[in-house]
Amino acid sequence: MNMLHLVQAKRDGREHSVDELNWLMGEVVKGTIPDYQLSAWLMAVYFRGMTPTETAGLTRAMVNTGRRLDLSSLGPHVADKHSTGGVGDKTSLLVAPMVAACGVPVAKMSGRGLGFSGGTLDKLESIPGFRVELSAHEFVAAVRTVGLVIASQSPDLAPADGKLYALRDVTATVESLPLIASSIMSKKIAAGANAVVLDVKVGRGAFMKSLDEARALAAAMRDIGREVGRNVRAVISDMEQPLGNAVGNALEVREAIESLRGSGPPDLMEVALELGTNLLEMTGRAGSTDEGRALLVQAINSGQALERFRAFVANQGGDPVIVDHLERLPKAPVQYEVTAPSAGYVRVIDAEAIGRASVEIGAGRKVKGEKIDPSVGFVLHSKVGDAVREGDSLATIHAAGKEDAERIAPALLGAFDLTRDPVAAPRVIIETVK
Ligand code: URA
Repeated sequence: MNMLHLVQAKRDGREHSVDELNWLMGEVVKGTIPDYQLSAWLMAVYFRGMTPTETAGLTRAMVNTGRRLDLSSLGPHVADKHSTGGVGDKTSLLVAPMVAACGVPVAKMSGRGLGFSGGTLDKLESIPGFRVELSAHEFVAAVRTVGLVIASQSPDLAPADGKLYALRDVTATVESLPLIASSIMSKKIAAGANAVVLDVKVGRGAFMKSLDEARALAAAMRDIGREVGRNVRAVISDMEQPLGNAVGNALEVREAIESLRGSGPPDLMEVALELGTNLLEMTGRAGSTDEGRALLVQAINSGQALERFRAFVANQGGDPVIVDHLERLPKAPVQYEVTAPSAGYVRVIDAEAIGRASVEIGAGRKVKGEKIDPSVGFVLHSKVGDAVREGDSLATIHAAGKEDAERIAPALLGAFDLTRDPVAAPRVIIETVK
């Protein structure tokens, strides 16, 4: 087989065979295909799409590049959660310890920042010492000892996704249904959990801008899961504005810990509770939505979810002291306020614009392998529907230098739209696809 032929075939809208997809993913992992040909293929997929059969075949081919973990020794149910990507979306850092604290093991393979969206691995690596690269053995051992693991793709687990993901990030080929579905589902299948809840984001700060696209992505992933015998639910949630208040790696870890301490922003808590409740229901830990929610709230109020997070950080080499000393997280030297030019109500906070500004300031990557700055980002002080007075701080920029902050401030201000008329706060959970 020949890569040039595959690029030509996809460019011309032809369907790849299972053999071609298996060959391609195998070569991706061996590193024999130059980035320029792989990028051309990704762009062809972006424009031409894939049939459902092809998307399922690509997912299986990606899984086959590594091991598929058997977690059956950990009990009848192991939970996993994944987001399709958003801005300020630190939900995994809450849901995983909350669900684990309710007695359901959580085994999760995550990704790095992608395009304008943040990534759980980058967030976790802002914790001094934290290791995201675990062997298959360490992955399973972590679930056994602390009931919870979040790790990256490795040579053992879905390595093809790791390679494609890094290239998609910097070639404008992220927003593609088959590439997102196969990326997410290959990680979910390889990591072995049998109850998976997907947070499918929709809106300006999501890769799916319309509800129809989000529903199609949710259905595609549910169908792939069903084919391999996994119980998959998808929650479609709003990503018009950033989730919570913090955007940027260490800032988001800080917000996640504050949320586990019981003072999380309402929209973030709503998404975390909805996803967690679904997992507790799917694994039989809760008999109803109300019971699931009550268990999760209790896990936070009792401090057990926070303790689970602390144990998880320590188990993966991170400094657990940060849980009590947030000041030990990386901190940007400059804080700069962006203020409201007039009084009014916040009508829009454009999550994509905020996400792009965060990449620009160093929280994400513009070229493959670029080092990110864990300390930089933004903290929003108002959300859609809030009233602001002229001169109120809309957001604080955390930057490496004053010039960076001044350069990015107009983009941040431009992401806010204020209006004179009152605005209703948007609903966060749109629907659940079971
Ligand atoms: N999350 C992933 O793991 N992959 C994608 O393509 C998008 C979000």
